Amino acid sequence: MDAEDGARDAPYDRERRAATVRSGPMTHGLRMPPDVMRELATHVTEILVERSASLRDGRAWDGEFKQDLRERLLEPPPETGRPPREVIDRAVRDVLSPIMRHDHPRAFGFVPSEPTWPGVLADFLATGFNVNAATWLSASGPSQLEAVVIDWFRRWLGYPETAGGALTSGGSAAALDALVAAREAAGHPARATVYMSDQSHSAQIRAARIIGIRPDHLRLLPAGADFRLDPAVLAGAVEADRAAGRIPIAVCANAGSTSTGAVDPLPAVADYCTAHGIWLHVDAAYGGFAAITEPGARRLRGIERADSIGLDPHKWFFQPYEAGCLLVKDVRTLERAFAIHHDVLQDSVWGANHPNQADRDLQLSRRDRALKIWMSVQICGLAAFRAAVAKGIELAERAGQYVVDSPVMELMTPVSLGIVCFRVNPGEGVGGERALHQLNRKVLARVFWEERAFMSSTLLHRRFALRMCVINHSTSWDDVRETLETIEGFGREAL
Ligand SMILES: Cc1ncc(COP(=O)(O)O)c(C=O)c1O
Repeated sequence: MDAEDGARDAPYDRERRAATVRSGPMTHGLRMPPDVMRELATHVTEILVERSASLRDGRAWDGEFKQDLRERLLEPPPETGRPPREVIDRAVRDVLSPIMRHDHPRAFGFVPSEPTWPGVLADFLATGFNVNAATWLSASGPSQLEAVVIDWFRRWLGYPETAGGALTSGGSAAALDALVAAREAAGHPARATVYMSDQSHSAQIRAARIIGIRPDHLRLLPAGADFRLDPAVLAGAVEADRAAGRIPIAVCANAGSTSTGAVDPLPAVADYCTAHGIWLHVDAAYGGFAAITEPGARRLRGIERADSIGLDPHKWFFQPYEAGCLLVKDVRTLERAFAIHHDVLQDSVWGANHPNQADRDLQLSRRDRALKIWMSVQICGLAAFRAAVAKGIELAERAGQYVVDSPVMELMTPVSLGIVCFRVNPGEGVGGERALHQLNRKVLARVFWEERAFMSSTLLHRRFALRMCVINHSTSWDDVRETLETIEGFGREAL
């Protein structure tokens, strides 16, 4: 310890400090002495590293019933502080353990997500530095870094240099920002209508609702047999609305729908929207980062023609929640929608070369979301990201082939962008659709209660489907194969 450290820590001798950390409050008001800060951070780091090392051995899902958790957690706040280690250990046991482990190698349900360790550390760093990435004045470094990361995304998706955007809390916020921009670009008409297929994520529907689209002005168009938006159906709906005096303001297309991974026919939809002057928003929250791989970029062809694109680094770009992004082809469309002068912020205006990210998003105070993306790529290298995304695509395709080759399973949609939809169907003797529905629900329940893996389900034109989303970077073929073998076994036993 040097003299300066000694002076700063003077009131605490080492032994008393260590003992107090374990047995009693160790705060001065709301501050903590440096050595206590260090010891607690080390403790948290050890918990996280141990969790990461042993994650594979445990179950992908854990949870508790409400009554148990209420009994454990519902209490008045303590008037005096408790020993910090005790509080941390309790948080780990009672709060952070009964959760779905989206980063488990056998987490196949909904949209899994396995953040990089540099991403986790970056969130810690940015929080510790207390960044408010609202304006250039309040955070010039983080604002520039957000521009850098957005420029990476822009290039990967084939957008021009006029494009720009903002990092958001997730895909829902990106959809909302996009529809606000679309509505303002259309001149905020009174009888506005919005179009999407019935495969679109509820986040798009909610965004339309929030911007004030009336329920009878929202068109959820029936997707075709391939679960993609049919441009002819879109054209019919738009024409009928125009004939009735309604104003189409936006089409939301999917680039990786959550149920099946389907990609809408983006070039044809873009042709239609361009010809009819309608804003095209592409929801690529799930599938967008496939663009960094060659087969993914091929699947997403036409995305660069959209007026806006939502994409989620906290899904297939391996970042901690919350990391979403909205890109718009012309950044001015976003600023026209969101930049509002307020006298108390007048000192934040530094001119056009110093953009304020808060002028492009619904949040003013915003955390630094760029750092985790940037640090992850700087430390791991883009090639590792490309390999991880490509692995997800490939494992899902192998899983699809396994299902096709199985005598007791049936593929329900073509495998697309890491998603496999299938069901157990041993053929004759099972009964009709109702019986298959029951059988597959039972299989899913057994995976849930008996296995390390976690899977979820969906409905495909009303037919129940098991759904595997294979995008975690630690997932191996053995993880996928053993899970499919188990499902096959359950299917046979249920007969
Ligand atoms: C295709 C799609 N769009 C939007 C969303 C909503 O994104 P978020 O949960 O980040 O708000 C999701 C979430 O799974 C999604 O899969």
